[in-house]
Amino acid sequence: MTPATATKKDAIYFHELHSPVDTMVAEVHAGLSLQQKVLSPKYFYDKKGSELFDTITRLPEYYPTRTEIGLLRQHVQEMAGLLGMHSFLLEFGSGSSTKIRLLLEAVRPRIYVPMDISREHLIDSAQRLASDYPWLTVHAACVDYSIPWDIPDFGPGRYNAFFPGSSIGNFDPDSALQLLKQVWRLVGRGGGLLIGVDLKKDAAILENAYNDAQGVTADFNLNVLSHINQRLGADFDTGNFRHKALYNTGEGRIEMHLECTSDHRVRINGNAYRFETGETIHTENSYKYSVDEFHGLAAQADFVPVKVWTDPDGLFSIHYLTAT
Ligand code: AVJ
Repeated sequence: MTPATATKKDAIYFHELHSPVDTMVAEVHAGLSLQQKVLSPKYFYDKKGSELFDTITRLPEYYPTRTEIGLLRQHVQEMAGLLGMHSFLLEFGSGSSTKIRLLLEAVRPRIYVPMDISREHLIDSAQRLASDYPWLTVHAACVDYSIPWDIPDFGPGRYNAFFPGSSIGNFDPDSALQLLKQVWRLVGRGGGLLIGVDLKKDAAILENAYNDAQGVTADFNLNVLSHINQRLGADFDTGNFRHKALYNTGEGRIEMHLECTSDHRVRINGNAYRFETGETIHTENSYKYSVDEFHGLAAQADFVPVKVWTDPDGLFSIHYLTAT
């Protein structure tokens, strides 16, 4: 991809680096054909799913977002000092581009590159950001983390990655390592990485965060089925499933599942899938890391820890590392 191939959409450039339908058909089929059925959490994020996730981030039980925002606000000057001014700033999983607003004035990037899988939401958010910050050049890119991608050559300068929200937790340690290597490739030697990582903690706090009283997380989880219905013409009945989230201590991860409540079949694209009462579709992992565990992972991708910020309750961490 080069800037020349970008589409100019109002105040932003847009780069399509992802062909959604083809991979979705094959991946959904593969996942539902396994003994333990599985769907990738990336399929949560259609327009509705992105909105539900934004609602989750404001729930009283969901501590990660507000804790991370607190850390960003408190340490913005120190973070900006490490990132340096006028860099090329790449954001991984930019979502609504809310958190970047806390850094923009302090770091004044030459170019901001929000990257996300949720196309419409990405474009809306990038356009809103560009109109709120008229001095900012925005190159939005629709990407799928599971496939390596390139960004335009913006020329010489310092490249920084911003990867907030502990979205790295969606990947098992092997895939997380591949993704960190991808981050390394994009920022290059000497580049920086500011990344939010949810910490290991008491299972009750974790399970509470994924089983909110208002049932928004349940709606978010079930929405993956509606998304598949819409995009692939499937006939999932969300009434046949219920939300389940638990902390798997051995693996150090929250697991979300959709538990089937009746024996039935679902048709997708000419194929039929059998569901039995009590079986689950595994829809998400959210890995939690101690500071040392994350440093160990990052080291394997040649990132050296420079600074880590945590809140007094030890809920969440933000790391700054450099690519060596
Ligand atoms: C966006 C992956 C960081 O794992 O906490 C929130 C997604 N799932 N509630 C997380 C999520 C259920 C979230 N991440």
